[in-house]
Amino acid sequence: MKTLILFSTRDGQTREIASYISSELKELGVESDVVNLHRCEEITWSNYDRVIIGASIRYGHFHSSVDAFVKKHQQALQAVPSAFFSVNLVARKPEKRSPQTNSYTRKFLLSSPWQPDHCAVFAGALRYPRYGWLDRFMIRLIMKMTGGETDTRKEVVYTDWQQVARFAHEIAHLTAK
Ligand SMILES: Cc1cc2nc3c(=O)[nH]c(=O)nc-3n(C[C@H](O)[C@H](O)[C@H](O)COP(=O)(O)O)c2cc1C
Repeated sequence: MKTLILFSTRDGQTREIASYISSELKELGVESDVVNLHRCEEITWSNYDRVIIGASIRYGHFHSSVDAFVKKHQQALQAVPSAFFSVNLVARKPEKRSPQTNSYTRKFLLSSPWQPDHCAVFAGALRYPRYGWLDRFMIRLIMKMTGGETDTRKEVVYTDWQQVARFAHEIAHLTAK
């Protein structure tokens, strides 16, 4: 049996975090598959005894496919130990890095028909050179308003990899339902 790690990403940071969780789990003797939530057609749920979903925020929202996926697979998700993690830039501030204090995550959990057993919020990455001009302009504006990095030549990874490793350890110790 394996752990299924599904990710929803736009710029790749959530995929990197999912892969990091997978390698941490491997060190703990837990095998996993890392799968793009936007590209998975059929899932053989019987292969998995745990599931993790990770998703990033863009302009205040998770991708609509995340909600659709959760709705469609609600029963399978609820049947095994499960976890959710969200990735966003508000979470670069430690006080906004918990499911209770991160408004995107809190709202998701309040409205989701799936209630994961475990949840975490990770700070994402700011990669100005990779954005189109409009996104770069908008993100810079938000950064300016919130006291963040405004130098558009920079790429900054705010993810706390130790926090991600702790999350992986917690997942490895989730007990079967
Ligand atoms: C166009 C754009 C819009 C974003 N909007 C938000 C936002 O509303 N709130 C936030 O906290 N972070 C926002 N972010 C930051 C992303 O959540 C962050 O870059 C994250 O690492 C993206 O993860 P991904 O690469 O897996 O998509 C935005 C980033 C971009 C490029």
